[in-house]
Amino acid sequence: MRQDNTFTLTDNRTGKKYEYAIKEGSRGPAAVDMRTFFKDTGMFSYDPGYTSTASCSSSITFIDGEKGELRYRGIPIETLATEHNYLDTCYLLLNETLPTDNERLQFDLELRHRAFLHEGLRNLFNAFPDNAHPMATLSAAVTALASFYDEHLDICDEAEYTEMASRIIAKIPTIAAFAYRHSLGIPFIQPDIDLSFTKNFLTMMRAYPGGKMHLGPLGHEDIKEVEVRALDTIFTLHADHEQNASTTVVRGVASTGAHPYVAIASGISALWGRAHGGANESVIAQLESIGSVENVEKFIARAKDPNDDFRLMGFGHRVYKNFDPRAKILKKLQDELKVTLGLNSELMEIAAKIEETALNDDYFISRKLYPNVDFYTGIILTALKIPKNMFTPIFVIGRTVGWITQWIEFKKDPESKIARPRQLYTGK
Ligand code: SDX
Repeated sequence: MRQDNTFTLTDNRTGKKYEYAIKEGSRGPAAVDMRTFFKDTGMFSYDPGYTSTASCSSSITFIDGEKGELRYRGIPIETLATEHNYLDTCYLLLNETLPTDNERLQFDLELRHRAFLHEGLRNLFNAFPDNAHPMATLSAAVTALASFYDEHLDICDEAEYTEMASRIIAKIPTIAAFAYRHSLGIPFIQPDIDLSFTKNFLTMMRAYPGGKMHLGPLGHEDIKEVEVRALDTIFTLHADHEQNASTTVVRGVASTGAHPYVAIASGISALWGRAHGGANESVIAQLESIGSVENVEKFIARAKDPNDDFRLMGFGHRVYKNFDPRAKILKKLQDELKVTLGLNSELMEIAAKIEETALNDDYFISRKLYPNVDFYTGIILTALKIPKNMFTPIFVIGRTVGWITQWIEFKKDPESKIARPRQLYTGK
């Protein structure tokens, strides 16, 4: 039996054998190096949706779908969500290590200073109708951002691409908050450099003109620390996720040499779909349309019906064939916040009934369909007074650091090439 690290394929029509190197990673499945397969055989590998394809090498995020494991730069998501915060997570993804106290302070200060938008960009919001979905505004504003900053980026100059990354991470929350305020027809609240990243975003969303918080019974109800912590944890859980659909789009745009910010804008557009990041908004809409625990069985039956395109939003995942570790953390957070944040217990009961029914139903068990990150997010965000149409923008705020980190890794990878797959032609 041969022991070398190769993989041999035989074309049984001719008996010809083709040998390919097996590339071992540091963890997870190995990969067969298929780059010369078409040149060797005149055939393509066929893999719609890339279910068995590694599109790149990466050291950013590791997922074990069977174990339900997620690590950023080798650190378990559970550690980051409970012992660190979103800013530490951003620093870790960008720099491969957690920050020292001084590095954390410098990074925090830089993001606070970069949170402001060019005054010219503010005019863009007026081009949108009040009922414009904030994801449309967000994608357009980030594309517009590319025209405000030089596109000739020297990827070999660390200071340059670090500045490019910090800028977009810092400005996304401001753009998202402005899109929300525009949709209500109320004045924008400028970023406040005295506030942390996450508290600043909640303030830009909620404050009255002049930056004053809601006037409770003649007293200012400031934003509670428990609310900031909950949203910060949600940002951390969404920071990156290997080669998901929107990250694949970001890398695809990176491969053509377009401006990094239009790559991020493309990622925002891809994330919007309800099969991807748009699911968090659909989950709440679905829980509301189910309406009561008694109706759950009927909707579960629809999800199982092959003739009904209804799907259980927040369930299933291409990689996780066990509980999504992020969903586990969010479920625990939801139970902790039930009292302190006054979560909508009826929606929680419907969600719990869906989970209990699905996890005991062979249709879901046999297909290894479990709750994913989107299943629990919406109930917590609703309690933070964030409207449904802002759930996916919240996902964008968390994920932007992952997209820009993946963009930088793509640019620095000597094996990177323009993304140009082929096809199995079935036409005339
Ligand atoms: C995210 O990739 C990532 O990492 C994404 C993400 C990230 O952080 O970037 O994790 C974020 O996008 C989470 C997923 C959010 N989407 C949803 O919750 C939408 C509902 N889920 C499905 O649309 C679906 O599960 C996907 C899109 C998430 C995964 O689709 P796959 O891997 O292509 O699976 P599939 O469509 O081939 O389904 C396999 C089977 C099918 O049944 P059969 O044809 O075998 O009979 O499972 C069924 C599907 O019909 N199925 C479901 C289902 N999800 C899959 N049936 C009912 N309800 C569902 N939700």
